[in-house]
Amino acid sequence: MTIAQFSTSVRKVAVLTSGGDAPGMNAAIRSTVRTAIDGGLEIFGVYHGFKGLLNREISPLSTSSVANIIQTGGTILKTERCREFLEPQVRKSAVEILRGAGIDALVCIGGDGTFRGAHLLWKEHQFPVIGVPGTIDNDIVGTDFTIGFDTAINTALDCIDRIRDTAASHNRLFIVEVMGRNSGFIALAVGLACGAEEIFIPERPVVIDRVVDRIRQGMDRGKKSSILVAAEGQKPGRAYDLAEAIRKRAGFEAKVCVLGHIQRGGKPTATDRNMASRMSFGAIQALQQRYCDAMVAIQSGQIQLVPLETTFDGAKKISFDLLDLVQILSK
Ligand code: F6P
Repeated sequence: MTIAQFSTSVRKVAVLTSGGDAPGMNAAIRSTVRTAIDGGLEIFGVYHGFKGLLNREISPLSTSSVANIIQTGGTILKTERCREFLEPQVRKSAVEILRGAGIDALVCIGGDGTFRGAHLLWKEHQFPVIGVPGTIDNDIVGTDFTIGFDTAINTALDCIDRIRDTAASHNRLFIVEVMGRNSGFIALAVGLACGAEEIFIPERPVVIDRVVDRIRQGMDRGKKSSILVAAEGQKPGRAYDLAEAIRKRAGFEAKVCVLGHIQRGGKPTATDRNMASRMSFGAIQALQQRYCDAMVAIQSGQIQLVPLETTFDGAKKISFDLLDLVQILSK
């Protein structure tokens, strides 16, 4: 699939963050602003994502507006999930507001929901958009990496290392719930890195008998404590249901720790800051070359453009072999 191009020239670009915040979004905003200004463009911030756009929350940004933010979590532009954007009439209003403010193109930093909305601005109204993948979930098709993932997994890992101290001291079984509504990338990366006995991901059904057998086999080998890592799936608190199922099936007590939004905050890692800086520069370069309706991706370490509609079409492939590796390594 080729990358769409537009014919008008770009002078004024706006940037927004949308969906769940992710550490490194500020580094992405900083890079968008400073590379745009360096390229002779005017740059504007849209506050509170698509929702704020509908309320005309648009302000000019300068190099100093983004000073001293590279090291901070969250997003200085704020963010929202905007269900109204599913309505065609609402998207039409959004484009009228952007054009009314003299904006020629929009950089959208967010996840698949953000990209769905952005793609329709181009498809329905030929308004040039570029996506930068920002979500802790790392579940966007077409890119090896999304901004926030590296920080989130390191934060979760730090928490689990602490939990392991108490698990080992008390000979306990723990189920630690990490984020990931539709995908198990966080659970898999964290579970492998923390030495989990078992990982529960939304992509694979849970077989409680098999889990119980593995815990029993571990005990028979002299194992005194275990950590199981579960992705939250559709319903945060799922780890409590898993603990109850294990208790009913085998009589073991499992302590539960739900890490929740702790994983979304904090100082971004060097990897997140650097990837955010590179991908956002890629977004501005793409617009200067009149490319649009695309996401800036990282593939094998290189910046690439991929058509936006391919980023939310289907699920990103997860490496099931890593689940097998986790089982071998935890013996
Ligand atoms: O998409 C990012 C994410 O943190 C998911 O991992 C999680 O399931 C969801 O957002 C939580 O969303 P909310 O901010 O609405 O609680």
